[in-house]
Amino acid sequence: MMERTQVCIIGAGPAGLLLSHLLHRQGIASIIVEAQTREAIEGTIKAGVLEHPTVELLKQVGVGARMMRDGFEHHGIELAFGGKRHRIDLHELTGGKSIMVYPQHEVIKDLVAAVLANGTTIEFGVSDVSLHDIETTRPSIRYAKGGEPHEIQCDFIAGCDGFHGPSRQAIPAAIRQEHLKVYPCGWFGILCEAPPSSDELIYAQSDRGFVLVSTRTPKIQRMYFQCDPADNVNNWSEDRIWAEFRARLANNEGWALKEGRIFQKGIIAMRSFICETMQHGRLFLAGDSAHIVPPTGAKGLNLAAGDVVVLTRAIRDFYRNGSQAGLDGYSTTALKRVWRGEHFSWFMTTMLHDFEGEDTITRRFRRAQLDYVVSSRAAATSLAENYVGLPFESLD
Ligand code: FAD
Ligand code: DHB
Repeated sequence: MMERTQVCIIGAGPAGLLLSHLLHRQGIASIIVEAQTREAIEGTIKAGVLEHPTVELLKQVGVGARMMRDGFEHHGIELAFGGKRHRIDLHELTGGKSIMVYPQHEVIKDLVAAVLANGTTIEFGVSDVSLHDIETTRPSIRYAKGGEPHEIQCDFIAGCDGFHGPSRQAIPAAIRQEHLKVYPCGWFGILCEAPPSSDELIYAQSDRGFVLVSTRTPKIQRMYFQCDPADNVNNWSEDRIWAEFRARLANNEGWALKEGRIFQKGIIAMRSFICETMQHGRLFLAGDSAHIVPPTGAKGLNLAAGDVVVLTRAIRDFYRNGSQAGLDGYSTTALKRVWRGEHFSWFMTTMLHDFEGEDTITRRFRRAQLDYVVSSRAAATSLAENYVGLPFESLD
């Protein structure tokens, strides 16, 4: 079957869904093709923290109601090390900004509902997606669904298909400059049935490795500890997991984690990755298809949102007044914000994780940096400004 649309979007993650919705609000039509089922994308546990600009954008474009009702606004985070907790007052240090703890799969549910209400098609469960004629003004994608071949012709292709999707590979290798840093650790993430242990997220450094104490609801908590990326979740019983958390969070303040039944476990890898360029011909990459961050800065979804704002403006200007400038400058504009987020994610990761085989001077530098961040208003302000998120391009 053959169809035609203005923008063909590969991938119904945060990047693809938000792009479709923003384009619709500009009167621009799109079709989304997605490899997984709706149930799968709406049920996959990933991110938890939305930056201030992401929250404002979701509200501005009419998909923020459930987030404002069910999300948790946090005005600070805590850094724990040396047996003590230190608060970074995000709100005060940034002139009133905050972050929202609201799970990515809930954002996905809100965006899928909005996109379908727009009358936009999301083809779920597609396979064998391939990109064609991206160097011409009539690109297309082909895919299979239910054993049948399909083709969508379009003006633009948005590659929003995450790190492993086909879009990035469609840019000739010779013009792609890829930067990669693999960290020698992973994160072991759990969901458990327990009340919150803290009013705010705790990023904890210890000689046994990093811990993040996050939350989901008053009854469900999300926590992570640094692990060997090649480890297996089956090596970790509930007792062993809680013993590890207790050892890493040992403190002089009489404070302890509230423990409960663990009902979800998973290990994620830690990488910094940037693909320069993020465009070729009529193909534009957005989100994880072009860049990956280690999760310590809570930036991945938020960088994806920043990209699609830039891309929406560029495509809108093309249709509105034939301007090519935004499209030509897409990669350069988007990458500026991406590199900042990448650096911040690396900064948080190296400040908070211990890596095997490190020399003692690197360990002491880490402690010196932590001491500085919690004792200098200038250093704390820099961390806070990056953590709540630097401004997006304006959509106006
Ligand atoms: P994805 O979410 O990867 O979406 C891509 C979509 O494309 C998927 O639905 C996929 O099925 C589809 N696809 C792939 N290949 C194909 C194909 N061939 N054909 C069709 N469809 C395809 N970020 C934050 O901002 N804050 C956080 O607190 C945070 N915490 C995190 C915690 C964890 C444990 C993890 C794993 C990630 C975290 N992130 C966080 C990162 C964030 O989840 C990602 O950056 C975000 O999902 C990127 O969105 P995306 O739309 O670019 O890509
Ligand atoms: C969560 C994930 C992160 O990567 C982070 O930095 C903060 C919170 C979370 O899943 O809650």
